[in-house]
Amino acid sequence: CTGSNLTITVVGASGDLAKKKIFPALFALFYEDWLPENFLVFGFSRTKMTDEELRNMISKTLTCRIDKRENCEDKMDQFLKRCFYHSGQYNSEDHFSELDNKLKEKEGGKLSNRLFYLSIPPNIFVDVVRCASLKASSENGWTRVIVEKPFGRDSESSSELTRCLKQYLSEDQIFRIDHYLGKELVENLSVLRFSNLVFEPLWSRNYIRNVQLIFSEDFGTEGRGGYFDNYGIIRDIMQNHLLQILALFAMETPVSLDAEDIRNEKVKVLRSMRPLELENVVVGQYKGHSKGSKSYPAYTDDPTVPNGSLTPTFAAAALFIDNARWDGVPFLMKAGKALHTKRAEIRVQFRHVPGNLYKKNFGTDLDKATNELVLRVQPDEAIYLKINNKVPGLGMRLDRSDLNLLFRARYQREIPDAYERLLLDAIEGERRLFIRSDELDAAWALFTPLLKEIENKKIAPELYPYGSRGPVGAHYLAARHNVRWGDVG
Ligand code: BG6
Repeated sequence: CTGSNLTITVVGASGDLAKKKIFPALFALFYEDWLPENFLVFGFSRTKMTDEELRNMISKTLTCRIDKRENCEDKMDQFLKRCFYHSGQYNSEDHFSELDNKLKEKEGGKLSNRLFYLSIPPNIFVDVVRCASLKASSENGWTRVIVEKPFGRDSESSSELTRCLKQYLSEDQIFRIDHYLGKELVENLSVLRFSNLVFEPLWSRNYIRNVQLIFSEDFGTEGRGGYFDNYGIIRDIMQNHLLQILALFAMETPVSLDAEDIRNEKVKVLRSMRPLELENVVVGQYKGHSKGSKSYPAYTDDPTVPNGSLTPTFAAAALFIDNARWDGVPFLMKAGKALHTKRAEIRVQFRHVPGNLYKKNFGTDLDKATNELVLRVQPDEAIYLKINNKVPGLGMRLDRSDLNLLFRARYQREIPDAYERLLLDAIEGERRLFIRSDELDAAWALFTPLLKEIENKKIAPELYPYGSRGPVGAHYLAARHNVRWGDVG
């Protein structure tokens, strides 16, 4: 409201995520006039720094939008002038009291809302929440806390974390972020489904043969091995990013677009799913590889990864939803690091056309004649539908072509980063794209038995060369469910 302050404190301000994503997203919001008039940005971390040094650090990653308005430099200066820093220990109530004094001084006694962004390792979440809520909560406005994953390592540790957080905060104050939910194409999924007559009626086992959720990165864990080895690709990508997309994809129509209505439907579909079984999962790990004069390291060459680690850097899995809409439809997930390309997409393969008059034009491989809808989340956002088409000419040759909506060509504007969308939503109190605690419980319930089995049985991952398409086991897994990965060939 007019005249009130908004103070955003980034806890873990000297870390990578803060530098690369959070401060630039805040600047982008300011640049586009989305932030309230009286806003302040505070950095808090253990590193000793002056306000000036923080500003210097932030300024290195700020960029203007492509239109490069003339006032960009001015805008950066104005933004940086609102940035301040306080260093302290994460578990010290005294240091958060000092922060509180500084915040009050800058807020000048006005009504002040406070948003804390915890960009810190999970083992100190609870300390920070305790100290910040006891000592630095807003006295006259709202206090909200954005929490980054990982939210525990399994059902038990996640519930324990939720229990601890709820000692100091109400569920309404906790914003669990999954940045994939802030990606343009993921947000668009509901629009595509629920506001186009041509899609929603087909969205079921009657017409859809399988759904594929694919995430691949063309780089390894370089530098992040310490964190990653403790979690692995299933926790890092599947249990959260891909499962969240799956829930949005497969949920029933919500009563409204209200956050609680959407999250109710997501929980329902997650609870209709079968917990993953080892026989429906393939795990892999990248090995070293040389190509010409270049050589690529194995995962276990990373100095921060323990020798002989069995942590998967790749996984493929088949999941099932036991409800009337999706009974028998395999949902295949595939996620991997150090693969041949960087890509995230949703592929929907439709059933065969019954009694297809053009059957003979497809030879024996009728799978090549089915429609496929692809939502390319990144890079280069696009939605395209593979259809059969007659090649112009006197003969009758059929060809698979694309109806193609390439965002870059259709909308000549830069797509905001996911963190901008999510920060803005947290500021506005919009919870639609944040994860509620019962959603989190349902997500862990699906993955925890599998993760325990993999770890207890010390399942050895299938090795694949850095820069390849991943372990061949992923193809056998898909084939067992009569699926062919849409991203291969
Ligand atoms: C993070 C994972 O959540 O998402 C990282 O911890 C991964 O391992 C990253 O690299 C991918 O995000 P994006 O937005 O670059 O696809």
